[in-house]
Amino acid sequence: MKKVFIFSGKGGVGKTTISSATAVKLSQDLQEKTLLISFDIAHNLSDIFNKKIGDKITPVSDYLDVIEPDPEHYIKEYSEPIFKLMKKTIYDLAIPNMVPSLKILIESMLQSSNLPKQAKVSAFFQLFFNAAKSKEYSFIISDFPPTGGTINLLEVPKFFVQELMTNFLSYRAPIVLAYEGVRRALNPTKMLSLNSPLSQLLDYLKKLKKRGDIVNKIIEKYLTLRLVSIPEWAAIQETIRAVDMFAVYHEVDAVYINKIIGESVIKDNEFLRKMRENQLLRIKDLKHRLPTYYWTLEQEANEPLDFENLYIFANKLYKNNTIEEIINPPKIKIEDTI
Ligand SMILES: Nc1ncnc2c1ncn2[C@@H]1O[C@H](COP(=O)(O)OP(=O)(O)OP(=O)(O)O)[C@@H](O)[C@H]1O
Ligand SMILES: [Mg+2]
Repeated sequence: MKKVFIFSGKGGVGKTTISSATAVKLSQDLQEKTLLISFDIAHNLSDIFNKKIGDKITPVSDYLDVIEPDPEHYIKEYSEPIFKLMKKTIYDLAIPNMVPSLKILIESMLQSSNLPKQAKVSAFFQLFFNAAKSKEYSFIISDFPPTGGTINLLEVPKFFVQELMTNFLSYRAPIVLAYEGVRRALNPTKMLSLNSPLSQLLDYLKKLKKRGDIVNKIIEKYLTLRLVSIPEWAAIQETIRAVDMFAVYHEVDAVYINKIIGESVIKDNEFLRKMRENQLLRIKDLKHRLPTYYWTLEQEANEPLDFENLYIFANKLYKNNTIEEIINPPKIKIEDTI
């Protein structure tokens, strides 16, 4: 694997279009296998490629595969074994047999459908793990949900796996000791087992944590995090805030400013001229405030849909860039922007 791209930004600014165009461009020019993943549960890659995609990896060209993962499927794979072991662990204490209503409560609570959407979608990170393991793909390009949703997602591997799980698992010995104490007090006839449901549960969590650690390593080593924006006041403000908010997880190393009114469409339309002037001022101000690498692109008359049009769109977007620059945006020194 060479690079994992994450595209985020405000709603409707062009994240899906730009991530798809980037995936088309890299896979086509380099003829290297690329996987485009929609992390936004409001998937719309099928619309863009005009092809039914869904939960299975679907080729849209010789080198580009696309997937719109189903959150229910991914979370089930993980949570069901955990919930099963949790139930076994609780039942092993014999309390639910004494209080039948407790059994009903446990059964209704420990279900993957009760998990929050954020936890379900974060299971898509499994695709990074699979792709890195299979070594099939050079590039993984992920179309993320709008800024807030992206932060929720990045929080899972960072805080849940790295901090909570690490802490929890470091208390394994006292947890087992306390559990065995309660279990034997409630049910003294039960033998102490080295392979108790609790041990199995902790072993399973340890395995999950290892996977999470690998995902974190992939993010650390291969990620390029990019923000898409448009030259409107609210979007620009959000971009500036997002760079700060993302800093805990990863540095934003490029910003795309999309849907700029092109010089050629203005003719003698005073309204469009004024709008473009304002947009250029906003962009200038943003570049001053956020010294990073920028790509700018104009509003097209036709929405860039399907493989061929996305390729044309990508060539307009990346016209002055080498492939190396698309993959690793040049670092901007602060003095360059002053
Ligand atoms: N430069 C452009 N010129 C013309 N149309 C564009 C351009 N960029 C994006 N669009 C169109 O704008 C609309 C929104 O784009 P897109 O779906 O890529 O945004 P998004 O940020 O992914 O939205 P969401 O937050 O809803 O996921 C789409 O209809 C897309 O075809
Ligand atoms: Mg989108």
